[in-house]
Amino acid sequence: MERFGCFCLIGPGAPWTSARMAGFVVYMPAGLHYPWHHHPAEEMYLVLAGEALFLREGARPETLRAGDTSYHASNQPHAMETGANPVMAYVTWRNHLKTPPVLTERPVADTGPTGAQK
Ligand SMILES: [Fe+2]
Repeated sequence: MERFGCFCLIGPGAPWTSARMAGFVVYMPAGLHYPWHHHPAEEMYLVLAGEALFLREGARPETLRAGDTSYHASNQPHAMETGANPVMAYVTWRNHLKTPPVLTERPVADTGPTGAQK
């Protein structure tokens, strides 16, 4: 995760302060796995460039590209992977901004690339 880049634009302590919302620009290089994690803040990813596989508990894995979005409900486990290409995204958080992400310890249902239960 040392290769994961994140710059907070909006939120507590950011250039534009807000107590209810945060906005980040994130960058993941090619070949990076962001492991299953969750947080109480709701989260929305808007892919700006590149592509990544987005995994969400209870949903089929999706490869998202520029203009696509992924919504993560409060405490819904999710993960991301980049393949041959990096990804850049704008990420928003709503509410519960002070609780950082934690790795999801419990097993997460893996629906596989086709959405079929394994
Ligand atoms: Fe997240």
